[in-house]
Amino acid sequence: MISVRNVQHNYRHNGVVESVLHGVNLAVAEGEFVVLMGPSGCGKTTLLNILGLMMSPTSADSVALAGTETLGLSDSARTRLRRETLGFVFQRFNLLPTMSVRSNVALPLRIRGQHADGAVDKMLDRVGLLPQAGKKPGRLSIGQQQRVALARALIGRPAVLFADEPTGNLDSASAGAVLSLLREFHRDWGQTILLITHNEHLVGAGDRVLTMRDGRLHD
Ligand SMILES: Nc1ncnc2c1ncn2[C@@H]1O[C@H](COP(=O)(O)OP(=O)(O)OP(=O)(O)O)[C@@H](O)[C@H]1O
Ligand SMILES: [Mg+2]
Repeated sequence: MISVRNVQHNYRHNGVVESVLHGVNLAVAEGEFVVLMGPSGCGKTTLLNILGLMMSPTSADSVALAGTETLGLSDSARTRLRRETLGFVFQRFNLLPTMSVRSNVALPLRIRGQHADGAVDKMLDRVGLLPQAGKKPGRLSIGQQQRVALARALIGRPAVLFADEPTGNLDSASAGAVLSLLREFHRDWGQTILLITHNEHLVGAGDRVLTMRDGRLHD
């Protein structure tokens, strides 16, 4: 479902080049739940941004998602693949503050031109937030906001879910709730999940743990 070979990435600031990824290889099978760990600044988010088609690597032999080689795709083809195949949850929830919880969750379907119908409320019920559906995200607790973000990420049934420190801002009870939901959705729907975390409680959540070191991935 995810297959990358020899991904290199450099950042350039003020003429200074910082080399972050030095030949990352990764293969994640369909339905696999992989946890990615590694020290701060080692390049985890950089890799996730490349896999999530938010950024192009400096060089790579292959970046394939759901059977599609993405290197060389046009911007519009990358955007389409991202909208149809990928879901994202971040440490900062990136919810739209002026829209209701219900409208936030419906957004990925609206962007695809699909009708939301009852699916959104069913999803909100699943994450325990149906009573909050009409509220603005700012009126919810931090843990509730992350559950809204998770509902939004999964409403379109993406084949792949990328989660970058989804519990980084949460207390342990809220983190536990998000983790349980992730596991439930994975069990029921079988998405492929790549989860970045520093949280030791989440390490056991997946099928496999990878560590990033020296710009490469290690088992
Ligand atoms: N947009 C950017 N421009 C320039 N340098 C960047 C940019 N984003 C990240 N970097 C640098 O690349 C390196 C890797 O950053 P990255 O965010 O990928 O690390 P990380 O493993 O996700 O760290 P953390 O665990 O703290 O989130 C860091 O040294 C960082 O300063
Ligand atoms: Mg990061």
